[in-house]
Amino acid sequence: MERMRRLRQSKAIRDMVEETRVNKKDLIYPIFVAEGENIKTPVDSMPGIYQYSIDNLDPILKEINDSKISGLLIFGVPKHKDEVGSSAYDDNGITQNAIRYIKSKYPNMIVVADVCLCEYTSHGHCGVVDGDEILNDATLPLLCKMSVSLAKAGADIIAPSDMMDGRVEAIRDSLDHNGFINTPIMAYSAKFASAYYSPFRDAADSCPHFGDRKSYQMNVANGREALREILADDYEGADMLMVKPALAFLDIIAKAKEYTNKPIVTYNVSGEYSMVKAAAQNGWIDEKKIVMENMIGMKRAGADIIITYHALDVAKWLDEEE
Ligand code: PBG
Ligand code: ZN
Repeated sequence: MERMRRLRQSKAIRDMVEETRVNKKDLIYPIFVAEGENIKTPVDSMPGIYQYSIDNLDPILKEINDSKISGLLIFGVPKHKDEVGSSAYDDNGITQNAIRYIKSKYPNMIVVADVCLCEYTSHGHCGVVDGDEILNDATLPLLCKMSVSLAKAGADIIAPSDMMDGRVEAIRDSLDHNGFINTPIMAYSAKFASAYYSPFRDAADSCPHFGDRKSYQMNVANGREALREILADDYEGADMLMVKPALAFLDIIAKAKEYTNKPIVTYNVSGEYSMVKAAAQNGWIDEKKIVMENMIGMKRAGADIIITYHALDVAKWLDEEE
């Protein structure tokens, strides 16, 4: 008889035949850096997550560095917002200054820079607007300027999250023409218009002031279209391909893995984090076990790299297991 339990009888055997493992180097931790001084503002909807000003970054940078995860994903929270998101591509903007600071302290830490205008525009959309319309082609040059400015500041990886069509090719061209031929692009390829981003929009102050993002982000119902997005970014020269959010989209991760040969990234987003934290704070679930099961699930689906607000906790828990 086929007895499955032969390979389950001891921890040693179970460990030997374990198919999926999470490693610290799989993990990237998002941080929010706000313009100003002496800021450490908790994000109410995301327990344990803060906006930091540059002068308050040292402890969290040390924690990230000591944890041995791969690095961080940086989001800037500027003071000045306008129609065209000028602070996004200001060489002295908050994100640029923060990247320069981080790289001067930790040259080996991987700094991924999110590229999008929504934190920098007065209307909160990811591109420039004309009335109710979010303009695709008029936004591309601004994303290119932002990417080059972030690369100049020292960003190791450029991660466009705006979901304008053709932006990967445009950004690749601009990086190449400005001497950044070796700066990889991590494309938010299949990014869905998800309700799971709402805590992030508190954290990054990037909520759209009118309408929603459905004219540029994907319909959550469309798996086949997600593959078109993934293949488009692959073709345009993205170095890594992302699926976002993660847990309700594991089928998309699996497809991306099957149909491409590039590293697959998934973003375990703010709402996914907040739900776990809320249940854990109520004592309704075992936070460590739930988080580890989620991490394993994303990896089993095919994710090579996980961007997650749980990264520092996961690193700590992996240490405890050793
Ligand atoms: C900006 C951006 C968003 C997220 C990452 N980059 C929000 C959005 O598209 O509204 C979401 C991340 C999260 O929820 O943790 N375009
Ligand atoms: Zn955006």
